[in-house]
Amino acid sequence: MYLQLLGGQAAVVADNAARAAELGAPGIDLNFGCPAKTVNRSDGGAIILRDPQRVHDIVAAARAAVPAQTPLTVKTRLGYEDSERFLDIAAGIEEAGATELTIHARTKQQGYRPPAYWELIAEARARVSLPIIANGEIWSVQDALRCRNITGCDALMLGRGALCRPDLARLIAAACGVGAARQPLHWRDVTPLLSRFFALNLARYDTQHAGNPLKQWLVYLRGYYPQAGLLFEQIKRLREPAAIQAVLEESLSSAPAGRFAA
Ligand SMILES: Cc1cc2nc3c(=O)[nH]c(=O)nc-3n(C[C@H](O)[C@H](O)[C@H](O)COP(=O)(O)O)c2cc1C
Repeated sequence: MYLQLLGGQAAVVADNAARAAELGAPGIDLNFGCPAKTVNRSDGGAIILRDPQRVHDIVAAARAAVPAQTPLTVKTRLGYEDSERFLDIAAGIEEAGATELTIHARTKQQGYRPPAYWELIAEARARVSLPIIANGEIWSVQDALRCRNITGCDALMLGRGALCRPDLARLIAAACGVGAARQPLHWRDVTPLLSRFFALNLARYDTQHAGNPLKQWLVYLRGYYPQAGLLFEQIKRLREPAAIQAVLEESLSSAPAGRFAA
């Protein structure tokens, strides 16, 4: 798994990238897509896209700081307020020596609102030659196929779609002829994943907050599995891990066979 960094000071990003590589990170990814106010206010994430030269300089500094064999990848949006300088940004990222570029096809101002402007990814592909991964608004196999058609990208990145449907990546892969044909996951296949996720969070967070990531995931899952909505209603006010665990176990033991979602 690559380590992702963000920040506006080239020297600081470079130092951290070098340290991460020393510690064994198999690759470094630089994030110029984050739209969070607190991050942007601190000169990190998408705010840097206002100045393509700064993007270039940060990528170049990180590239120079990590061993040549360590992949240095970049995640970007189309811009901050608008996408006018997007192609300059992409060209600068290539020139600075990035090995791969993931494009979330929206500006920071566009947030997470549909549509994603996949056609601009196609324009970037025409302008630069580094491998490009297309991202934004892929919720289904059909979306993935359309995105591949419009962008010309073989590689796609899933965001919220993968949270709604844990099987989406492999369904897309199968539809693209990679791997065996797959049936969609049943709810009963998802519930053990929820238990594992909760156990991981118990180890990671204090007991009063360990249920929060699970609740957030259920909010995404309920878009596809109605049972996730019921489970969310049951645990949304619970904080005690033992109480959440009990509801999860009940849900695990009662998950019926068969698929509910459309
Ligand atoms: C809850 C959440 C957390 C995210 N965290 C990150 C992150 O840490 N790094 C990153 O590069 N993108 C992050 N993203 C952005 C996604 O990788 C992706 O670019 C974005 O959701 C658009 O894709 P989508 O339309 O398929 O959701 C996050 C998105 C969401 C919804």
